[in-house]
Amino acid sequence: MLGLGAGAWPMRMLAHDMQSMPKPRMGGGTLCKHMVTDQAKVPLLLDPTTLKAFVDPLPLPPVLHADPGKLLQIDMQETSQRLHRDLPPTRLWTYGNSMPGPTIEALSGKPARIEWRNRLPGKHFLPIDHRIHGAEQDKPEVRAIVHVHGACVQTESDGYPDDWYVPGQSRVHTYPNKQEAATLWYHDHAMGINRLNIYAGMFGNLILRDEHEQSLGLPSGEQEIPLTLSDRLLTKDAQLYYPVSGNSDAPWVSEVFGDAMLVNGALLPYLEVQPRRYRFRVLNAANARFFHLKLAGGRPFQQIGSDQGLLAAPLVQKSVLLAPAERVDLVIDFSGMGGQQLELINDALPIMQFRVGRGSVRDTSVVPAVLRDVPRMPESAATHQRLMTLDEYDDCVAEPMLMLLNGKRWHEPVTEKPVLGSTEIWSLLNLTDDTHPIHLHMVRFQILDRRPFDQGQWLASKTIRYIGPAQPPEAGEAGWKDVVQAYPGMITRIITRFDGYVGRYVWHCHLLEHEANEMMRPFEVVAA
Ligand code: C2O
Ligand code: CU
Repeated sequence: MLGLGAGAWPMRMLAHDMQSMPKPRMGGGTLCKHMVTDQAKVPLLLDPTTLKAFVDPLPLPPVLHADPGKLLQIDMQETSQRLHRDLPPTRLWTYGNSMPGPTIEALSGKPARIEWRNRLPGKHFLPIDHRIHGAEQDKPEVRAIVHVHGACVQTESDGYPDDWYVPGQSRVHTYPNKQEAATLWYHDHAMGINRLNIYAGMFGNLILRDEHEQSLGLPSGEQEIPLTLSDRLLTKDAQLYYPVSGNSDAPWVSEVFGDAMLVNGALLPYLEVQPRRYRFRVLNAANARFFHLKLAGGRPFQQIGSDQGLLAAPLVQKSVLLAPAERVDLVIDFSGMGGQQLELINDALPIMQFRVGRGSVRDTSVVPAVLRDVPRMPESAATHQRLMTLDEYDDCVAEPMLMLLNGKRWHEPVTEKPVLGSTEIWSLLNLTDDTHPIHLHMVRFQILDRRPFDQGQWLASKTIRYIGPAQPPEAGEAGWKDVVQAYPGMITRIITRFDGYVGRYVWHCHLLEHEANEMMRPFEVVAA
């Protein structure tokens, strides 16, 4: 086991340059033995800029209604899908047989039961790192377990990473849906390999609706569209390429970025819209990429929701920065744009196009000035404060590099035991140079603030010296959240009430490569 004392140190690495062109493997700073890529092993990759843009209509995943009393059955299976008109089909692992999987529609207050059936093949097609905890040689290669991200469910149905099962087996999960309307999503969570399973295509949306939201008159029906974003590297023959370190015994890489941007599983699609308002439920389902979204020409739009549902009031935005696993609800008004085209852009590059039809339509949708009540949680409600560090270790000897929460590995005893129904403040001390999107299962939370602190002083003496004022959350993240961007060199504070169920849950970084390599910890909700 890697000693975390002398000889190991939090390392400067992986400047999160969202603008830079992705490369097959990421890494920078110190060059360690295990960071050397054997270029000969990198297959010829497809250059997506050679493909004609906006020739494929935006795919809309099939919709499944989770009616109470009915058991939905969803198969995990191998399938193939054309990501672009001019590409051959790509082999994928999916729920149902599309990437993203079917959009599950559920109603708040109405429990749903889903049987998730593992019908995957017996061999993985992406590079497993057997040194990663939970993915050792003695574990079956193909394992899966579904987690509904953002759902408050009992631990047996939450998709605990060690609860994986193999092809031929299935699991019935119960979702009580005792929570407010929100765009949730489901994805694989199998210990040590979920970054590969998700990259292979194992994710989809779960839209939870409630009466309040439905009474608002927001754009709905054909004017309410999921936009699930991801990025992939593709080989010349359009197959998924998951980058490797070059060391075949330890293929794990610290972050994966692709240059093929997919919206609902399509490369550079277009969507025909009418000159009226649309609601887009945007999800970042990428392994590690942050999406910095804008409309061409800096055209403003409204943000009406975030991870855990509606904001208190709509917000006019010109851009949003979405970390992996974050969601935003956007309203774009195409009225007055008949016959025009508008691109949705990530940084400088278009990722899809809206084609506005001509003619006039009567738009009866509204975006009310008040969306819902989001009372701020007072700090005084917290009965417990926890200091959690986000660390990266690399001694250039141990492989792979290690990222930890609180200096602890996944399998170490549970240290966080919040009491059911109690309120806590978690201070996330980021000792790295990366933004880590931190996610807690079961709960929704609010961001209190972020404050820069002296990392050096913390490392030397474990004491906090602030070096700047506390910054309140951005307006777009001031609602209910389940992922928070913990900025480098800052202490990010969140407040949450552990409502729900007793039992074991997880919190982790949602950069999937970090999560796999120990940046995930259990917490256990205990009875009062
Ligand atoms: Cu998106 Cu542990 O989850
Ligand atoms: Cu991370």
